[in-house]
Amino acid sequence: MKQIAIVGSGTMGNGIAHTFAQFGYQVNLIDINEEALHHAVKTIGKNLDRQVTKGSITIADKEATLSRIHTTADLKAGVSQADLVVEAATENIELKLNIFRELDVYAKPEAILASNTSSISITQIAAVTGRGTQVIGMHFMNPVPVMKLVEVIRGYATSDETTNQIMAVSAKLDKVPVEVNDYPGFVANRILMPMINEAITTLFEGVAGVKEIDTVMKLGMAHPMGPLQLADFIGLDVCLAILQVLQQGFGQAKYAPCPLLINMVMAGKTGVKSGEGFYDYS
Ligand code: CAA
Repeated sequence: MKQIAIVGSGTMGNGIAHTFAQFGYQVNLIDINEEALHHAVKTIGKNLDRQVTKGSITIADKEATLSRIHTTADLKAGVSQADLVVEAATENIELKLNIFRELDVYAKPEAILASNTSSISITQIAAVTGRGTQVIGMHFMNPVPVMKLVEVIRGYATSDETTNQIMAVSAKLDKVPVEVNDYPGFVANRILMPMINEAITTLFEGVAGVKEIDTVMKLGMAHPMGPLQLADFIGLDVCLAILQVLQQGFGQAKYAPCPLLINMVMAGKTGVKSGEGFYDYS
């Protein structure tokens, strides 16, 4: 694999582009919004600067990484030469299905189509393409350049060959790939989101305040962020959407989102990106 296309230039998309380019791959970063692409490249530059400041890469590495990232708003042109396409668009099922229908037409027949979805079924996504054996989940964690895990999700039809190729390319990015099967929330979010939801319920029921809950989990369990800070970082709308997938997929009340989470999302308080969640970022 040499040529990678990333669809979607938000937080995850730009982090994935950054990581592939840093490890020598040619990257086409694609978004329908030119402004978003401009912003993404600026963000990648800033995140590379952090690495330069920390001494983990040189200025020359930074320049070389940026030179391997090409942006385009043209999906067809962006994916036509790719060996691997990683979709990292908004977590909306209809949007993702439409993107995969188009990718199936525009990408080379031998290309692998991966989704960075955090909870949407890979089997369902693969079913809208004519290449189900070559569709797979490649779930990176935020911040992508830092977090070691890639959750590799095998859909019902995903072949061994596709899985092996994605495990190998993830290792080349200095990540640790973990293979899991395609059931709601996979492994990461099936375990993480009930914890976050329970932290929100603990706050909702007045057991403790925001800082207290986060401090218990940070200092007591050695988590780098408390669950409420992490929820703000992930986005409360994303947390809600994943809990709804779990609730629907398993039909169990234990996954029902806390009413406080629903209210905060309805009020537009979605965490870091909106300037306010459990904490104030303004
Ligand atoms: N790009 C590149 N480097 C970055 C970065 C970025 N976006 N953000 C942070 N860094 C680097 C810093 O330069 C620093 O590098 P060194 O280790 O070389 O010093 C390192 O990461 C740590 O950063 P900071 O010192 O600024 O801050 P920190 O020590 O507080 O760590 C954190 C920040 C890595 C985000 C840490 O708080 C953490 O691990 N938080 C939990 C993150 C997490 O759980 N992510 C998963 C979320 S779930 C998800 O993504 C999937 C889903 O489906 C919802």
